[in-house]
Amino acid sequence: MRDIRNIVILTGAGISAESGVATFRGPDGLWEGHRVEDVATPEAFARDPALVQAFYDARRAKLGTVEPNAAHKALARLDAEWPGELLIVTQNVDDLHERAGARRVLHMHGELKSAWCLACDGRIAWEQTLADGPSCVACGESGLLRPDIVWFGEMPYRMDEIDAALREADLFVSIGTSGAVYPAAGFVQTVRYLGARTLEMNLEPSQGSLFFDESRIGRAGDLVPAWVEEVLS
Ligand code: OAD
Repeated sequence: MRDIRNIVILTGAGISAESGVATFRGPDGLWEGHRVEDVATPEAFARDPALVQAFYDARRAKLGTVEPNAAHKALARLDAEWPGELLIVTQNVDDLHERAGARRVLHMHGELKSAWCLACDGRIAWEQTLADGPSCVACGESGLLRPDIVWFGEMPYRMDEIDAALREADLFVSIGTSGAVYPAAGFVQTVRYLGARTLEMNLEPSQGSLFFDESRIGRAGDLVPAWVEEVLS
């Protein structure tokens, strides 16, 4: 680690699995009983807004019943103690990194606790339900708030910041992601091309496993605290 100053960490659903948040690509291919394309696309929202709103309302309510696990806490410790640049890019829409205490976090696929007003284009912090068509606190329009989640076919958030961090990274670490969804799945190839070291920690080899210098296979709650201890010692 002596040559490492800038770290970029990509996290996915696997880091929250031990907290009780469902991953996307379970053995039955369903996400909490739904096909992803029935709830996570703009077309699904246009076709059946009530279903999509109810689905995300349930995910948002579930956040109140789950807690950060050892992996989130270890990354928060690394964030607090790492003297160089560090960015946690998460594909997750939960708030478990923040609740563990991490500060340098960027949600590239949006957040459950944010609503996007289709009338005024504002984003507002949101803890309640959306299915009942509440009013936007910024513009007053009712029934035009949608989950502030990046759906399939939409552009992930803050890609300029992510690209800049990837360009400067000395070490790229991927945790709990299947490597099935781009652009996040391609980050490892970008940083590798630019000369960074790469490490993945996942329950199974990800789809891009061959691009990593090192793969550690196991549960994030075991692997991540051990890795953070190594990095900081
Ligand atoms: P996936 O469900 O595709 O992958 C989760 C990965 O975590 C799998 O490879 C599991 O083996 C692994 N895993 C499960 N439990 C684990 C544990 N305890 N410790 C470590 N690894 C574990 O989820 P993502 O890769 O995050 O996008 O999915 C990427 C994107 O696809 C999501 O952000 C979402 C989805 O469609 C949008 O909604 C836009």
